[in-house]
Amino acid sequence: MKVLIVGSGGREHALAWRLARSGPPVEIHAAPGNPGIAGSGHCHPVRSDDLEGLLDLARQLRADLVVVGPEAPLVAGLADTLRQAGIAVFGPSGAAARLEGSKSFAKDVLLSAGVPTARALLQPKAPCVIKADGLAAGKGVFVCLSEEELAEGLRGVASFPGEVVVEELLVGSEVSLFALCDGARAIPLTPAQDFKRAFDGDSGPNTGGMGAYSPVPGIGHREVEELVELVHRPVLKEMARRGTPFVGLLYAGLMLTADGPRVLEFNTRFGDPETQVVLPLLEGDLLGALAAAAAGDLAGADLGVSAQAAVTVVVAGGDYPAQGDTGSEITGIPEAEAAGALVFHAGTALRDGRLVTSGGRILNVTGVGRDLAAARAQAYAGVERIAFAGSRHRTDIALTASTKEIANRG
Ligand code: GLY
Repeated sequence: MKVLIVGSGGREHALAWRLARSGPPVEIHAAPGNPGIAGSGHCHPVRSDDLEGLLDLARQLRADLVVVGPEAPLVAGLADTLRQAGIAVFGPSGAAARLEGSKSFAKDVLLSAGVPTARALLQPKAPCVIKADGLAAGKGVFVCLSEEELAEGLRGVASFPGEVVVEELLVGSEVSLFALCDGARAIPLTPAQDFKRAFDGDSGPNTGGMGAYSPVPGIGHREVEELVELVHRPVLKEMARRGTPFVGLLYAGLMLTADGPRVLEFNTRFGDPETQVVLPLLEGDLLGALAAAAAGDLAGADLGVSAQAAVTVVVAGGDYPAQGDTGSEITGIPEAEAAGALVFHAGTALRDGRLVTSGGRILNVTGVGRDLAAARAQAYAGVERIAFAGSRHRTDIALTASTKEIANRG
């Protein structure tokens, strides 16, 4: 089977790594991919926003399945372009990807489906949350606790085109819950928690994510089923009722409040870096499940979850969330792997045969162990071995959760 993965980040490297371990033999292609994916697959110089180029490539390769990583090509209609040409694709249509592409559209669907979410406010007044309505690469949400933060948030949101959405501020713990969807059925994957702020102690600017862990203590199989029943399945039903069934990965960003779970946002693709902890724990034939979802029939999908835990630490360029850190030589990846870590490439490039930084989040270092503490120790042992000029990472990924885990064991 030939699979074409669209995208070039850590999420796409984790997908390539996991799909290669699905069971049946698979030939992995990526567009444009990255040097990590190139280690076990074929990378093609086609950008993820070049819809016609991707269609040509999928045709030329005779790809059996296209798996789309990032949101922008989905919102732009890549899945429609491919499906119209008879190519199987794991990813929603442009109409269904509006669940991520427009926050006000997502809110409308949530209200119609009767799914609990943050209340919309007519006027911005601290404390509140201000969001850019459209895609903003993780930078369009402003949590405003004070009048100063509100003024700053309103200035920040003004730099994005489109409407502004204002919501009540919800308090609780956040969890990311993915489900594979075939238009009617939703199969949940193991929940994860990511770390959005740039610096330790959840301080600094929002980023795409500085690390993640899975599973999330207190959210076991029963709680996951309850959440999917409360959120994903009613949304699938509502999207089908509107004539835009959702096929692909529905990622619910949830806040678990004292009054119950509330949807903060939807993404319509695998999360990054959550994928780098969810997939190493997934057992069974992922490729078969993605192909079955693309064909509209997940009924026979055969997936399980290992009893282990995973922690990913993002190693970023010194200026991240800016993207300017390029060209610094990266060393220590073989040593990190020898120490037992999985290393997923994100912002790397090959220059004259040397692996160098190419901006933003550079590498994702994942540890897998019997519990979060063991996984965390393995991830950080890997991080310590990696070096490049200006390298930066958070030191507190999964710290609180693994400490609680140890305390609960008594
Ligand atoms: N980790 C957040 C996201 O993938 O959007």
